[in-house]
Amino acid sequence: MTIKHRKYDILDMETGELDRRIFIDQDIYDEEMEKIFGRTWLMVAHESLVPNPNDFFLSYMGEDSVIVTRDADMKIHVLLNMCRHRGNRVMRADDGNAQNFMCTYHGWTFSNDGKLGHIPGEQEAYYGDLCKEDRGLYEARVGIYAGIVFANWDQDAPSLEDYLGDARWYLDSNFNRFEGGTVALGPQKWIEPCNWKTPVDNCSDNYHVPISHYSSSVVANKIYNLPMATMEMSLQTPNRNHHVYVNGHALTFRVAPPSNERPVRRGVTPENKPAFDAWEDIADAEAEVRLGAERAKELRLGNHSLFPNTVLGFRLAHPRGPLKTEFWHFALVPKDAPEVVRNAMQNATSQFNGAAGVFEQDDIDNWRQVTEASKSPIARKLRADISMGLKKSGPLEQWPGDHSDRYISENNQRNFYQRWMEFMNADSWRDVHIDPQTAQYEGTASFEGPSK
Ligand code: FES
Ligand code: FE
Repeated sequence: MTIKHRKYDILDMETGELDRRIFIDQDIYDEEMEKIFGRTWLMVAHESLVPNPNDFFLSYMGEDSVIVTRDADMKIHVLLNMCRHRGNRVMRADDGNAQNFMCTYHGWTFSNDGKLGHIPGEQEAYYGDLCKEDRGLYEARVGIYAGIVFANWDQDAPSLEDYLGDARWYLDSNFNRFEGGTVALGPQKWIEPCNWKTPVDNCSDNYHVPISHYSSSVVANKIYNLPMATMEMSLQTPNRNHHVYVNGHALTFRVAPPSNERPVRRGVTPENKPAFDAWEDIADAEAEVRLGAERAKELRLGNHSLFPNTVLGFRLAHPRGPLKTEFWHFALVPKDAPEVVRNAMQNATSQFNGAAGVFEQDDIDNWRQVTEASKSPIARKLRADISMGLKKSGPLEQWPGDHSDRYISENNQRNFYQRWMEFMNADSWRDVHIDPQTAQYEGTASFEGPSK
């Protein structure tokens, strides 16, 4: 691939120095909305948020409001929430059930598959001359992975399957595990004063955990009777913790110890443990059929981000200008798990992350300051340093992707900002590369997930 011009050259791959302007500049942000959010597959919803015919759920693609609908034939659509007359929003409610959406400015009315059905004064005012077929709601391409709904404005983009590429091999171990699928509970919504890229970058930042989250970890590990993770433990070689970049996406994962003991699940108490154990016996056996033994029993997905802005699993991080990000935090729980297990999982995820999560509080203070510092013309002369583990990564035979030598590394971050540059310097998808898929899939799980 030849890059015809390089408008953006924000990362020095010899020194690991990063230009801070990308965190605060309005013009750069506006270009991101077009060249990144206008081209990539964006997570917008989960099938469980629109379970019935005519359900809808309001979401965002970048800063554009979109309506995720399920039509009467159960097909999912993602429609730009903009009336094709003058641009009024046609839906204001967060979610609900409706066959039609009527614009409250002049009354143009669209069906939930986007077609323009009714225009007040169609004959009298327009003389029957307006072509309704040309004025339907603008529709994005839709792709579904493991029940998660993605959408893309760009007709030239590759399929969602190619876009996720070999990252799916890892993601399946979490999202495609359960025979009955998952349901999204929530969301909690709040706005954080940080650029959207900083939380993405932070998903692979294992360096901050023993420092920033020390006090939260003391509490959490006391509750769940776990040893404290130290910097030294994370840097041990060989280590069962891994840090890998796969086709644009940044992942961390852990390989289970040889005993294959079950991971300690947050939310388990002496009272609900029998219910957890009984459910896990069934769920683990199902997972092995769906994913094969390696991915079901040995691979444990950790923090991860999908390019551009999917962070920490099923969580939406909507950009709101260069200095703000709106988070929508869901608990994704197994649909068939008993209620006591689902409730415990939902409560546990809220204790750690989400608006009141103790780990979230630690993180946001860092992200706010990183964004704030970039506003100063003095501070901006000093580039950020993401040099850790430079040139210490490469492919491994047994797992796909570019693996950092150490679990604590800034290799995923360098890859993320290089991917950012690739999109920002590209005229179209013709200038953006996609890695060929090489992963071999054991098990019965399909790409779309259990509902298909
Ligand atoms: Fe919607 Fe006029 S703006 S009907
Ligand atoms: Fe953190």
